[in-house]
Formats: sequence, C-alpha cells, structure tokens
Amino acid sequence: MITEKVRILWNKHVGSSYYKIGLKCGYELIAAKPGQFVMLRFEERTLPLLRRPFSIHGIIEGEGVEILYRVVGGFTGRLSEVKDGEWIDIMGPLGKGFFPPENSGGIFIVAGGIGVAPMLFLSKYILEKKMASSSGMRVFLGAGSKEDLLCRDDFSRLGLEVVVTTDDGSDGEACLITNPVEAAVREKRPGIIYACGPPGMLKCLAGIAEKYEVPSQISMESVMACGIGACLGCAVEGKDESRYLHVCVDGPVFDSRDIKF
Ligand SMILES: Cc1cc2nc3c(=O)[nH]c(=O)nc-3n(C[C@H](O)[C@H](O)[C@H](O)COP(=O)(O)OP(=O)(O)OC[C@H]3O[C@@H](n4cnc5c(N)ncnc54)[C@H](O)[C@@H]3O)c2cc1C
Ligand code: FES
Repeated sequence: MITEKVRILWNKHVGSSYYKIGLKCGYELIAAKPGQFVMLRFEERTLPLLRRPFSIHGIIEGEGVEILYRVVGGFTGRLSEVKDGEWIDIMGPLGKGFFPPENSGGIFIVAGGIGVAPMLFLSKYILEKKMASSSGMRVFLGAGSKEDLLCRDDFSRLGLEVVVTTDDGSDGEACLITNPVEAAVREKRPGIIYACGPPGMLKCLAGIAEKYEVPSQISMESVMACGIGACLGCAVEGKDESRYLHVCVDGPVFDSRDIKF
C-alpha cells in the first residue's frame, strides 16, 4: 500500500451524475486486484478533510487506474470539477479483493447502481486470467432508472450476456435485479455469485445464495474515515457474534455467509 500524489489523466462526464477519472499511478496501484479500493483526498487538505473510498474500476495499462464515481456530496462534487493535469492524493490499493472462482461452474456478476464500479474490472480480470470463458459468465445489472444503468456496452463488448432491470421500468423489466438472478439460479445453479450494490440487494442475494447453496462474494460499503483499520468506524456485524468485521481491512469483499444482515 502506498500514499502518493498523482496526476489526473482525464475526468469525463459519462452521463447523469456519473464520471470516470483516470489517475497516473505507480506500479503498486497498477497491480491492484478487482474489489480493492483507494482513498482519495485533495492535496491542499481543504474540506472535506477525510479521504473518501472508491473502488478501482479498471487498470490503464502501464499508466494508472480508473475510477467510476457518482456525485453525491462535497468531495465527489469537487472531484467532478477537476481538470486534466491537476493533482490528487491517493492511498492504496486497500482491502481484500474478490477471490477467484473455486470451481468450474458458471459465474454470475450482479451489480446494483454504482455498485457496478468494481464489477467490470472483475469481469475483465476473470476473462484475461482465463478463469472462465465469456459463455460461462452472466451479468445482471439493476438500477433505479435507465440513466443509472452503467457499463452495459462494456460488458457486451467482452462477449457477456447482460440482463437488465430498472425500478421504474424505463429499461428492462420493472423489478429488482434479484428477481432474474433468483430465476436463473433456480434454473441452473452457478458455481459462484459475485455482487456489489446497495445493502438491500446484498441482503437479498445472501438469502438466495444460502437457499440454493451457491457460494457468493459480496463487496460492501460503509462510511470510512481511515481505510486502514485504525478508526474502527467501518464495522459491520459478522455472523460470528464474538467479533465485528471491518470493511476496510477484512473486506470490502466478504463471503456473504460471514455477514449478519
Ligand atoms: C469500499 C468502498 C468503495 C466505494 N466505491 C465507490 C465507487 O467506486 N464509486 C462511487 O461513486 N462511490 C464509491 N463509494 C462511495 C463513496 O465513497 C461515497 O459516495 C463518497 O465518499 C461520498 O463523498 P462526498 O463527500 O461526495 O459525499 P458526502 O457529503 O460524504 O455524502 C453525501 C451523501 O452520500 C451518502 N454516502 C456517503 N458515503 C456513502 C457510502 N459509502 N455509501 C452510501 N452512501 C454514502 C451520505 O450518507 C450522504 O447522504 C465507495 C465506498 C466504499 C466504502
Ligand atoms: S475505516 Fe477506519 S477502521 Fe475501517
């Protein structure tokens, strides 16, 4: 893990309140694994003072990392205004990423909203490392509305089948993404489910995984102050009641069976 000041390669608006930013980084960050994250802060330490966590969305070959972000408040609002060539503080790679599939069964990739951020990186990684073929993977993308559906074309370009749902029915079926996931699991159990999204979606998926006895790894979010296990602010309750798990160091990726929802 390193902390460094890095140059912004680009910062692009990709629709609605979503942006992609490219950061020029050294070897340690380029070697990050899918599911790991970075903490960002503006170097002059203006408000907000605390670093903010973001999943690594992709590796820019030999150059740096890419982040997909949604503008929700002070930090992300300011981030959306930075220009190419400006500088930002980065700390990472942090946390534990996704573990490779342990069997040769199919792979389901499930993402809700901005939870898609680490899942495109994961999909590319699985294909590049030949852990599965594109025909053995299915992607399930859920969002509130059409404009919140991200990266569908990127997944399609990888040759992956993409199932889409929206809450308002503006694209795909009007239902929760967990509905088609459960139907597909019932039809043919995959070897593993990988997921990232809002807590309600992850809770529902953990239930599906338990019911059909499918291993599942979920990437969780929590409010983070330090990102390195020092402040204990990111605790979530584990199934083992004797201990809390810390999203920044024990996760953000967990076996869904280890979390008490
Ligand atoms: C491990 C991890 C990975 C993340 N990856 C990404 C990513 O790839 N892309 C991305 O856009 N965001 C990601 N987030 C969320 C991101 O860190 C927050 O959106 C960001 O910190 C908000 O900062 P802000 O100052 O703009 O908003 P704030 O002013 O801090 O908050 C604005 C609003 O957003 C809510 N909010 C803040 N943080 C979170 C959070 N973690 N989860 C849900 N709601 C939150 C607040 O409650 C508040 O309502 C990740 C979070 C974690 C823990
Ligand atoms: S964010 Fe400080 S312990 Fe996890």
